[in-house]
Amino acid sequence: MIIGNAHVFSDHALISHKVAILRDRRTPPARFSQVLKEVALMLLTFSTADLPVRQVTVVTPCGLAQQSVLDKRIGFAPILRAGAGMIPAAQELLPGAPIWYLGLYRDEATLQPVRYYDKLHGYPPVDIALILDPMLATGGSAIVAASRLKEKGVEQVGFVGLIAAPEGLSALRRAHPNVKVYVAALDDHLNERGYIVPGLSDAGDRQNATGEDDPTDQPFVPEEL
Ligand code: PRP
Repeated sequence: MIIGNAHVFSDHALISHKVAILRDRRTPPARFSQVLKEVALMLLTFSTADLPVRQVTVVTPCGLAQQSVLDKRIGFAPILRAGAGMIPAAQELLPGAPIWYLGLYRDEATLQPVRYYDKLHGYPPVDIALILDPMLATGGSAIVAASRLKEKGVEQVGFVGLIAAPEGLSALRRAHPNVKVYVAALDDHLNERGYIVPGLSDAGDRQNATGEDDPTDQPFVPEEL
């Protein structure tokens, strides 16, 4: 489904199935990271569908094939921490693409993004950059990331994530109307702490076992999903 400049894949059966696993509070960190990678592979496939191409001739064992290939330099900009979990998928699909790490965390009181790692100078230039971050909550982090990439001269910026809140989508669209968004789900709202509801809590914590939630009081149901 397309909402404004956002492609939301919540009606894709396999993506939805895997998002259910990610949302489940019982899903342990290693499994969470694996499934995040699987969803990221699918979302990156969709988000690269309309990249600019040029025609080439390929010699096959049986003849000549006219084939389109990517015509622009593509890079990825994972937002730490949680976006790091999407790098394995990005590298699997485009092994030579530059990875531009952006360290941003949200101030818990103001919910404003704080930059703590940003070393974009000196990196090889890219034409198109895809921001990787599982969560688009207020949109503040994605807005800062897109601004930095544009300052760096990137012509086209996209955002690939797991779950967006309506508030974040609107804010990102207002700030960067030409940034296309690709997410697996569009949730209901943000709570008073700026968490997406129902969401999956903090995707960085879920990958790294650093959250406060203790799911061990739940009955253990092995891999029923
Ligand atoms: C989370 C998430 C995004 C950001 C989204 O990161 O991974 O980067 O918040 O929120 P926003 O849209 O309101 O900016 P967090 O700040 O928790 O850092 P972490 O990944 O290091 O835990």
